[in-house]
Amino acid sequence: MKVNEKILILDFHGQYNQLIARRVRECNVYSEIVPYDIDVSKIKEISPKGLIFTGSPFSVYEENAPTISKEILELGIPILGICYGMQLITHLLGGNVSRADKREYATTSVNIDNTSPLFLGFDNNNDCLMTHSDFVESLPQGFKNIASTPSCPNAGMVNVEKNLYGIQFHPEVNNTNRGTEIIHNFVYNICGCSGDWKMSSFVQESVKTLKEKIGDKKALCALSGGVDSSVAAVLLNKAIGKNLTCIFVDHGLLRKNEGDEVEKVFREQYDINLIRVNAKDRFLSKLEHVSDPEKKRKIIGEEFIRVFEEEAKKIGKVDFLVQGTIYPDVIESGVGKGQTIKSHHNVGGLPDYVDFEEIVEPLRDLFKDEVRKTGLELGIPENLVYRQPFPGPGLAIRVIGEITEEKLDILKEADFIFRDEIAKAGLDRTLNQYFAVLTNLKSVGVMGDERTYDYTLALRAVETSDFMTATWSRIPYDILDTVSTRIVNEIKNINRIVYDITSKPPSTIEWE
Ligand code: XMP
Repeated sequence: MKVNEKILILDFHGQYNQLIARRVRECNVYSEIVPYDIDVSKIKEISPKGLIFTGSPFSVYEENAPTISKEILELGIPILGICYGMQLITHLLGGNVSRADKREYATTSVNIDNTSPLFLGFDNNNDCLMTHSDFVESLPQGFKNIASTPSCPNAGMVNVEKNLYGIQFHPEVNNTNRGTEIIHNFVYNICGCSGDWKMSSFVQESVKTLKEKIGDKKALCALSGGVDSSVAAVLLNKAIGKNLTCIFVDHGLLRKNEGDEVEKVFREQYDINLIRVNAKDRFLSKLEHVSDPEKKRKIIGEEFIRVFEEEAKKIGKVDFLVQGTIYPDVIESGVGKGQTIKSHHNVGGLPDYVDFEEIVEPLRDLFKDEVRKTGLELGIPENLVYRQPFPGPGLAIRVIGEITEEKLDILKEADFIFRDEIAKAGLDRTLNQYFAVLTNLKSVGVMGDERTYDYTLALRAVETSDFMTATWSRIPYDILDTVSTRIVNEIKNINRIVYDITSKPPSTIEWE
């Protein structure tokens, strides 16, 4: 499939690059992130409708600062430079970039020229996220000012004749008010895009790329039954059909009935090669006496790969391993430059050596809501597409401390009741994730006339769109009350229930 309209994002190692790409896609325009040193000839060949230069941790004056050929600025393609991108345009065209005494990191009211096509429809002031040390002190010749703050007089600039724009703030983040509209204005008013790209185009584009990449070779997909791996599996199935084999490792750490449900859906609704491996005992014995969360994650991640290798050997040569990694997994695992928060078992938990030629991650650039849209495009049933996310390490990271079969069974039942009541209350679409956690705290209670000394169960429910930040859900008290009453009445070994009222940050969604 040919994408008619493309925006190229030149990556100068800024921290929000993926968000820029996402915002452009939200405007129904295809965008692609490319290295800043892409050949000018390649840009001409792609013939994008516009270019966006990202931010960067560098200063334009640093020795190894990423830069571009000036020729790019003369191609006649509209350009939006964000933060460092604006400073680079300034530096290359003879303006002056200076270093401020102190770094600015704040959402600031920016005075904007709302007659500029970039800010059409805006008021004179807009709250924008400024995060920078350097700033544009004097504009290059031919440019005029279109935004300012008291501490940063040149917060936006334009050369109307050449269609070159620069803004010091970040339109791609939520802290900037109506940021997506600024990007929308750039791609529509300035680049002249018509917005003919949708998630269906992503599906077609991916199917084509996967076909080319995998060809007649064999691929193996790790199917967990979660949204991400299901979408990845169906996408791959569409691309390479029977050359895909899905392995569903039932590690015994799934929710109640989940293993059977997953098997049923993929066998009955899709003609997918599916192998179910019942590996509960194997995982539980590896996890015996392990209570450290990171150790649990690593063990499970590693054991997964071992199971795949063994199964792969049984089917003969397998060249590719498909994984449903999505963008938040990539950043939170610290694969980029950030600090590791948790090693998600799809990413950071991979051992150094893997018995496959290559790993394929078709959803690596997508956020969760984009994965769901892709799933619907692929015709996956809504109940599966809107299934709440479930972590690869499963209930192992929801049983705090050491894992035993008994604890797992208690948790499965409690979690089932919680989910059942949430669905009955019609909250299953509003809450983005909700589950039970079995703490390793025991406390004293009273049942009838008897003293009990049993587990404390925690309930967790959050609302979020990207799972990178989340707010705890204000579930009505009477629903919590029903859940609590049912759990203590129906499940032995739980005599106390608490509700988690922390958001992310400072907490994470999972407890481990
Ligand atoms: P946290 O706990 O980091 O979770 O706030 C963010 C989202 O990611 C899910 N999660 C995982 N998903 N492998 C996954 O595929 C993992 O190891 C993993 N750990 C957490 C979590 O359920 C939430 O949706």
